[in-house]
Amino acid sequence: MDEKKTYLLSKVGSLTPRQIVKELDKYIIGQDKAKRAVAIALRNRFRRQMVDEELREEIMPNNIIMIGPTGVGKTEIAKRLARLAEAPFMKVEASKFTEVGYVGRDVESMVRDLTSFSVNMVKSSKSEEVKKKAKKRAEERLLDLLLPSSKQAVIDKDNMKQTREKLQELLHNGVLKKRMVEIDTEEAAASFTAVIPQIGMEEIDINFREMIENILPKKKRTRKVTVEDAEKILIQEETQKLIDMDAVINEAKLKVENSGIIFIDELDKIAGKGYKSGPDVSRSGVQRDLLPIIEGSTVMTKYGFVRTHHILFIAAGAFNMTKPSDLIPELQGRFPIRVELNSLTEDDFKRILVEPENALIKQYTALLNTENEKITFTPDAIGQIAHYAATVNENAENIGARRLHTIMSALLEDYLFDIPDVHFGDIKITKEIIENKLKDLVEDEDLSKYIL
Ligand SMILES: Nc1ncnc2c1ncn2[C@@H]1O[C@H](COP(=O)(O)OP(=O)(O)OP(=O)(O)O)[C@@H](O)[C@H]1O
Ligand SMILES: [Mg+2]
Repeated sequence: MDEKKTYLLSKVGSLTPRQIVKELDKYIIGQDKAKRAVAIALRNRFRRQMVDEELREEIMPNNIIMIGPTGVGKTEIAKRLARLAEAPFMKVEASKFTEVGYVGRDVESMVRDLTSFSVNMVKSSKSEEVKKKAKKRAEERLLDLLLPSSKQAVIDKDNMKQTREKLQELLHNGVLKKRMVEIDTEEAAASFTAVIPQIGMEEIDINFREMIENILPKKKRTRKVTVEDAEKILIQEETQKLIDMDAVINEAKLKVENSGIIFIDELDKIAGKGYKSGPDVSRSGVQRDLLPIIEGSTVMTKYGFVRTHHILFIAAGAFNMTKPSDLIPELQGRFPIRVELNSLTEDDFKRILVEPENALIKQYTALLNTENEKITFTPDAIGQIAHYAATVNENAENIGARRLHTIMSALLEDYLFDIPDVHFGDIKITKEIIENKLKDLVEDEDLSKYIL
């Protein structure tokens, strides 16, 4: 595989670390150290792809552990990063896995899932590419269906052509939407896949399932559907035909191997040593199982073998009961970069409420806007919400920015319920309104524990 092609696979190549941080700034307030670390890790994989082949193999990804309390942006950073990189991304929870040999999900499934995700990703981008063509072909077939005599009618070709053109026009105008047509569809025979979860064979992913499905005869069925539905079905069929699945799978695997990102959440939950019995006995087992995947191994997926050597792993955890040093040493070594995320302050909350592209205030404004209500918040009001969030986090439990969600929904509940039966017009949320609504709740520790 030549460099150029690998380079093209990762569009993120064009983003410098500074630009990556700038993009992340659009969604995450603060946490500069973590942003820097992930930006460097991402840029390094681009750099790696530019290196001569021999050395390229040797360059390992900068796997990262993000340490920080709950709700401060760990998952958010990883998620935004993946979107930015247009890379296959998978989020898994370390605590969900069980040691090989025990009942449950084994760690290799994360690579299989990532690969399937990547295949879907590439497939949908290819579908987008052939969309126009598929649509055109589907239309031709639809016209054939609507003009069933077209094959015999050699006699009056001109007339035929005219009718076809007229039909085409009607089709475009949507006049024929509800007309019924008969189409042939293919369906997999007796749904074998549906049985699998019940017999606990979720893991027979590997080719086997598809093999069986291919062996079983496909059922052809003639169905009567509306033109509207027929068009959808035909477009799908034509898209399927236009896409070269082998090429899709190859590209998807390359993407996984060179730019895949696996985010392992709750890594702290599998840290800890010295367990001799009970449910914890498999924790270090899971860690040991993780090791080869993170160090680089080859995993069998239903799309063939996938190498994990250059997948970027980002782990996260609160690490309040355990420390990264409680992980088995080999695993610690595979995560050379540690970044700490800070607890969020009242000032951070103020900014989080309004600045991110998906800021809560923007969300609620848009929601109420759909009901023709205009809601605005005075700067004082924003400050007050942030203040209450910080207070409750301090007095009850610190759940980070998630606290803003609970406060906002308690604050706006009445409006959200009354609208649209009551029309308010201009809703102006001031500091006083917030105090009236939430003061007692915030100050009563017992009450706020339940409601906020
Ligand atoms: N620094 C931040 N800037 C903007 N929004 C944030 C920030 N931190 C958290 N949020 C928001 O709070 C919510 C929870 O954040 P996130 O999922 O990243 O938490 P986390 O750190 O992964 O916590 P956990 O340890 O519980 O998994 C998200 O909706 C996110 O958008
Ligand atoms: Mg998280």
